[in-house]
Amino acid sequence: MAPSVRRKPIIAGNWKMNGLQKSKSEVTKLAKRMEKLPTRACDVLICPPATIIATLSQTAKGTQIAIGAQDCHQNDSGAHTGDLSAAMVKEAGAKWIIVGHSERRTDHGETDKVVAAKAIAALGQKCGAIVCVGETLKERKAKDTLKVISRQVRNSLPKEGATAKNLILAYEPVWAIGTGLTPTLDQIREVHAFIRKKLITALGDEGAKVRILYGGSVKPANASDILGVEDVDGALVGGASLKASDFWGIIKTYA
Ligand code: 13P
Repeated sequence: MAPSVRRKPIIAGNWKMNGLQKSKSEVTKLAKRMEKLPTRACDVLICPPATIIATLSQTAKGTQIAIGAQDCHQNDSGAHTGDLSAAMVKEAGAKWIIVGHSERRTDHGETDKVVAAKAIAALGQKCGAIVCVGETLKERKAKDTLKVISRQVRNSLPKEGATAKNLILAYEPVWAIGTGLTPTLDQIREVHAFIRKKLITALGDEGAKVRILYGGSVKPANASDILGVEDVDGALVGGASLKASDFWGIIKTYA
């Protein structure tokens, strides 16, 4: 039996390739709505494109909103045209770095090994790492979901230095991302319980405290059901994080 611990939920927005300087108005609007949110209710994070991390960090200063990055390179520096190191996004203001998002795994061929190296790079800069895992539709249909998740969790986690303070796991079924489809609550419960077990195996007691987020078509309308599932410690939100009103519609589940 997993020891029972209290984990502070976190609602994280992944803006993907959306957002310009003017998007800071969404952060301002969200911060205003969040003024009434008790600080202990949940953490809130926005991961915009790297070009506006610095701007949004300024905008979010003194609010309950933290700013993060969507990726980093695994190396500290060097000949990697177009890439950004963990130190660079940290300097711009990122507190957390998403690594291994399925769009990175697919579009850029990132393997579990690369993802683990990126997570280590993030931790090395004292940023938190949000490690993403998730099965494709083909894998779910072949009943391979838990096998895939097991492999991804085992091989994508940083091998050392991870604690509940600097590591978050995000379960994002690839087929649920941007499709409006979501797994059933039982399917979410099953995978999250499975990930919890794997985290405890990997990290001992600390694994019981690591937050596990669900991601994939989370909207204001389905947030309270999904966030009510055992071992769901928050959400990683794409489309519905772009507008302050939608994102607040999800965050207020914890208000
Ligand atoms: P959507 O919420 O748009 O489905 O995206 C989920 C996601 O990929 C967050 O990282």
